[in-house]
Amino acid sequence: PAEDEARVDEIKRLLEAHNAVLVAHYYTDDAIQQLAEETGGCVADSLEMARFGARHEAETLVVAGVRFMGETAKILSPEKRVLMPTLEATCSLDIGCPADEFAAFCDQHPERTVVVYANTSAAVKARADWVVTSSIAVDVIEHLQARGEKILWAPDKHLGGYIQKQTGADMLLWDGACIVHEEFKAKGIQDLKALYPDAAVLVHPESPEPVVGLADVAGSTSQLIQAAKELPQDKLIVATDRGIFFKMQQAVPGKTLFEAPTAGNGATCKSCAHCPWMAMNALDNLAGALRHGSGEIFVDDALRAAALKPLERMLNFKA
Ligand code: 13P
Ligand code: SF4
Repeated sequence: PAEDEARVDEIKRLLEAHNAVLVAHYYTDDAIQQLAEETGGCVADSLEMARFGARHEAETLVVAGVRFMGETAKILSPEKRVLMPTLEATCSLDIGCPADEFAAFCDQHPERTVVVYANTSAAVKARADWVVTSSIAVDVIEHLQARGEKILWAPDKHLGGYIQKQTGADMLLWDGACIVHEEFKAKGIQDLKALYPDAAVLVHPESPEPVVGLADVAGSTSQLIQAAKELPQDKLIVATDRGIFFKMQQAVPGKTLFEAPTAGNGATCKSCAHCPWMAMNALDNLAGALRHGSGEIFVDDALRAAALKPLERMLNFKA
């Protein structure tokens, strides 16, 4: 529509005027991903978003995604202004892991190395020894296990269970889940596989264990797009937020992509596998943030210093 075009032009002008760069997650609107790409920003998984923001020389980072992504950007680049289209965009994993309850849990298990998923508040990260994203979680835990460390993991029980299974590590799990990925059902994927027996199954490891069990490849959003390119199959069943289909389809124009069903009867639910908080990012509030400097992320100094350590461990980790 014409008003979207006008908004896109305005955002392009504002990005330049403010020496700003747009860092977007794969689950945001197609128009936002497109804009990030056209303006020299990035569209990426959460680890790559963090790396990109930290390395970029822009004065302002505009982070289109959810709150923890903006906070991570600010912790890594305190000298930059970090704006988000809306500060309301949170994550069920973050909500399900309040810092005070988490600290009490850690206090009960002082002998364990505390590893938290990036999908957490700055205050939870500040209590951790390590932060990981899904793209390097297995490698980091393998490394810690080889050093004989026992792990306290939070907040995603499905991702934690998956890592435990992959590595055999001794992991105590917090009871959290992603409301989007938790909706995928193994039965529905099996029914779809029966229709397309030669299709490969790609799964984000925030999905429940029976769903990950059906995966030909489990991995972060970027890893799933990479796998779509590398796998020989030309039909792919994809169990993650449907925002990913924009870049994935561009990466494999000749392949057929199927949304993994979110109900056991094999029916796909168009509105289920889409994160309600990612969906809060739109061209309008993105333009508004740049126009008014609204949606700015601030992280308390002491908290920032404490959260920086486990985040830097992640960024410096080489498998
Ligand atoms: P990725 O690191 O795979 O992009 O995952 C972030 C996320 O929130 C998935 O739900
Ligand atoms: Fe959080 Fe799930 Fe949304 Fe990712 S998809 S931001 S894990 S609620």
